[in-house]
Amino acid sequence: EKGGFRSFMDKEIHDQPQAVADTLLGRTDTTGRLVLDEMRIDESVLRSVDKIVVVACGTAAYAGHVAKYAIEHWCRIPVEVELAHEFRYRDPVVDDRTLVVAVSQSGETMDTLMAVRHAKEQGATTLAIVNTHGSTIPRESDAALYTHAGPEIAVASTKAFLAQITAAYLLGLYLAQLRGNKFPDEISAIMAELRQMPEKIQQVLDRADRVREIARWMADTQSVLFLGRHVGYPVAMEGALKLKELAYIHAEGFAAGELKHGPIALIEPGQPVFVVVPSPRGRDSLHSKIVSNIQEIRARGARTLVIAEDGDEAVVPYADEVFSVPQSSTLLAPLLTVVPLQVFAAELATAKGLDVDQPRNLAKSVTVE
Ligand code: BG6
Repeated sequence: EKGGFRSFMDKEIHDQPQAVADTLLGRTDTTGRLVLDEMRIDESVLRSVDKIVVVACGTAAYAGHVAKYAIEHWCRIPVEVELAHEFRYRDPVVDDRTLVVAVSQSGETMDTLMAVRHAKEQGATTLAIVNTHGSTIPRESDAALYTHAGPEIAVASTKAFLAQITAAYLLGLYLAQLRGNKFPDEISAIMAELRQMPEKIQQVLDRADRVREIARWMADTQSVLFLGRHVGYPVAMEGALKLKELAYIHAEGFAAGELKHGPIALIEPGQPVFVVVPSPRGRDSLHSKIVSNIQEIRARGARTLVIAEDGDEAVVPYADEVFSVPQSSTLLAPLLTVVPLQVFAAELATAKGLDVDQPRNLAKSVTVE
């Protein structure tokens, strides 16, 4: 059932093009309009929502961070992202014009479920973005938008993460359509680009040999840092989490802009640093700022492992390694840029002889608070 792969983790990483394709399937009508009937939330309620709060734990919370960037940009609705266990206990400001979106692979995470219950008590509308049909979180929520990643067996999440990000894009585009923030042809254009993403993810997987090779060389590494900006920031956080979970290596993700406010003190000769670089065709300032960050850490001896778009020549002089990904618009790039980081963590853990499917001390779904 591992489909010829040495672990469920490897299989699930390779299932990702399909997970994204299946999550997109059947979500538009013949005219290209998004139809998310399964959401069963009254359109008038969705039109009057004045705030969205995403609640989740672990990897699902990083999908929530990507959702924030996309939904705020497309719909101009303020979006907060909060760890479910923090949300529940701090008396958050939530009312009947708040949409609380719970993101969960299992649909059983107790911390996330408790956040949903609390939100409902406050009169919020609740929506579950969940992978497992019939699970508790969608049952207790007002509506559900399912990810179609298929069963995820490995404890650490990979394909469910890409499917969650995809579902978040669908939610954002649906709200933009409903609330008139975007013209139909703008939405169709983004949907068309989304439909090309499975093929591009496949290309990233096809190029992954070099990442694996580097990961094997780095099996003795004690610490790895990850930097990103904009949607590359949650990708950096997820890259660090994967390495902690799978390889038990101390890893931290930072917003690249934060570097000079502290983390740069960690840079010493030989320190490996992954940097997730946004498209140079996107907002120019974003790209040039992160190139300066790479330059700064390289000057202090860091070993720079750079994830950048095809054709990005600006990073080359400062990169010890470039892992290139196909071109995409900035907001959609996480579906591509996280993949080399997943492959890296899985390969390094395997090189250390660890069980990548069942890391120590972790459970696939944590059903206690
Ligand atoms: C953790 C899992 O316990 O729960 C993570 O090890 C996962 O992989 C997190 O991201 C949240 O789980 P879920 O099922 O709510 O997405």
